[in-house]
Amino acid sequence: SSAVPAQYPSRRALPDAPLLNAARGTRPSHRPVWFMRQAGRSLPEYREIRAGVGMLESCFDPDLVCEITMQPVRRHKVDAAILFSDIVVPLKAAGIDLDIVAGTGPVVADPVRTAADVAALPHLEAEEVGAVARAVTLLTRELGSTPLIGFAGAPFTLASYLVEGGPSRNHERTKALMHADPKTWHELLGRLTDMAITFLRAQLGAGVDAIQLFDSWAGALSLADYREYVLPHSERVFAELAAADVPRIHFGVGTGELLGAMGEAGADVVGVDWRIPLDVAAQRVGPGKALQGNLDPALLFAGWDVVEREVRRVAAEADRALAAGSTGHIFNLGHGVLPDTDPDMLTRVVELVHSL
Ligand code: CP3
Repeated sequence: SSAVPAQYPSRRALPDAPLLNAARGTRPSHRPVWFMRQAGRSLPEYREIRAGVGMLESCFDPDLVCEITMQPVRRHKVDAAILFSDIVVPLKAAGIDLDIVAGTGPVVADPVRTAADVAALPHLEAEEVGAVARAVTLLTRELGSTPLIGFAGAPFTLASYLVEGGPSRNHERTKALMHADPKTWHELLGRLTDMAITFLRAQLGAGVDAIQLFDSWAGALSLADYREYVLPHSERVFAELAAADVPRIHFGVGTGELLGAMGEAGADVVGVDWRIPLDVAAQRVGPGKALQGNLDPALLFAGWDVVEREVRRVAAEADRALAAGSTGHIFNLGHGVLPDTDPDMLTRVVELVHSL
């Protein structure tokens, strides 16, 4: 239905957008494709416009966010734009001292490890991400009929950065807090859930057409730990945004063993990395949801013949998933575009996916 809920007055009606139809279980006019990290260092026009501007600084400049978000849409003719921002933007906006270090990722000045640290965390007010909302407003005017995906980091992945103080291979301090002090853990995840909801509501209020929750590092957890310490919080994000009536996507890396539980969190679309074929993923997620994925981003370095063969394989596996009860397929990579990727490869993947 094109009915727009009263609290989200600026939503555009995009009844024919293939991405939205695939996500909602309606037959799209062609198979939609977009790429995680499609805006970024693989594009010379991105490197040029970002020269001398810090990553976080650029995320709070609406004109720059709008331009960077548009770059891959113009170049590749993808079926969606994804807002140029970062999962730590709402944390920064709330006043947490952190930076994004090139080649490393988010680094937090004072890691959060005790009940007192959690109690001292600031709350995010919607006005603090007003620059992001303004960028969304600009984009809804620029994009024409291309939908805009908004996003947030999931509570667990945000917690990992806050507790570890930066990127982590083993997430040992995060898992230690979770198991040794579950009360503080759930308090922390509750706070991060509130921030994710506020950040996504700000984007929805300004007109994003779909949302993706990135639980990038959830694959580090056992299924039992995921269910006990993470799922209830991610579930609350999706539940509190259900009234927005936009497609909701849920993605993580290395989540083969978690796909069923991630589906239960309530999204309409489950993102899958390259480690598991989409028809197998469909059995784990169960019927009634769409799937997104899952070309291995590293294979974009293997030459066009390999890429073509792999795109066709992913599409064939997706078709088997559809036959088994999945409601749609959104073509994507299994994780983000790697910085040294030849952008022409991505353009050719879009053309090929559209021709299938
Ligand atoms: O095109 C898009 O996908 C939208 C932009 C986007 C960025 N970050 C821009 C960015 C999105 C969706 C994110 C989300 C994000 N940020 C995630 C979840 C997605 C995923 O990859 O799993 C995570 C884990 C982060 C944290 C983060 N921020 C990392 C790991 C890095 C990379 C560090 C590096 O330099 O290798 C960042 C920085 C970042 N975010 C860059 C971009 C384009 C690179 C910094 C730059 O260009 O200067």
